[in-house]
Amino acid sequence: MPKEMLPLVDKPIIQYAVEEAVASGIEQIVMVTARGKTAMVDHFDVDVELETLLEDRGKLEQLAAVRHVSALARLGTVRQGRPLGLGHAVCITRDLVGEQPFAVVLGDDVIDAEPPAVRQLIDLFDRVQGPVLAVERVPMDQVGRYGVIDAEPLGDGTYRIRDLVEKPSRDEAPSDLAIIGRYVLTPDIFEVLAGVREDRTGEIQLTSGLRELLRQRPIFACEVQGTRHDTGNKLGFLKATVYYALKRPDVCGPLAAYMRRLLDEMDGHC
Ligand code: G1P
Repeated sequence: MPKEMLPLVDKPIIQYAVEEAVASGIEQIVMVTARGKTAMVDHFDVDVELETLLEDRGKLEQLAAVRHVSALARLGTVRQGRPLGLGHAVCITRDLVGEQPFAVVLGDDVIDAEPPAVRQLIDLFDRVQGPVLAVERVPMDQVGRYGVIDAEPLGDGTYRIRDLVEKPSRDEAPSDLAIIGRYVLTPDIFEVLAGVREDRTGEIQLTSGLRELLRQRPIFACEVQGTRHDTGNKLGFLKATVYYALKRPDVCGPLAAYMRRLLDEMDGHC
């Protein structure tokens, strides 16, 4: 099963990403899929059989939830045949995106924010008229998991980027400002990415493309105000599950009581 389909409470991770984009004003989504990931696309399709069944049985709440998913946005898909990296994934959306600014949303990073994270980036984009990356301060022992920026502060958590480096060692990292999985980019990135070579790991990095683009135009960063979970690792996924469950009025109370009791019982075991 694609990891994007793992649910946080009762919605697959990918749905959080699509809902964030839609709440940010995005109307057309291009999903980059791969072999074995069709469940991710099917999830957003109209399911006539299920709708009829729910309607016949009078399950109107569930019916509304199912209809909500398929009505979220116009959805196009493009398949990434080989795992050639994020830069390549962006590159192959070129024909569908066309000559307009666009947002890149990495499903693994689930961000709870108001305004939504992509909207925060678009708001800065509107002011600076240039590409904007989402960043977050991370502990120095974690910088090696991210793209990291060297940047000049412009105030209010915004920056003009001086340089950026993909997954640096702690010693090489120019700062603790890590790129998290949201970008608002301009179509000139496509031409640049087409010329980026694979790195040592065989991937085409979006960070390398952005570094190249930086020679041609200013690029900005925005410290997103909100709570981010990296659901791409076990602990992050579990934290996100608990976080979103505790935000749901229908399960929050009993779940908190259960967790307190469990922690008491397990005291000393973990
Ligand atoms: C990608 C990017 C990296 C960024 C990260 C955010 O890395 O290459 O620059 O910091 O997403 O989640 P990945 O997590 O795909 O290895």
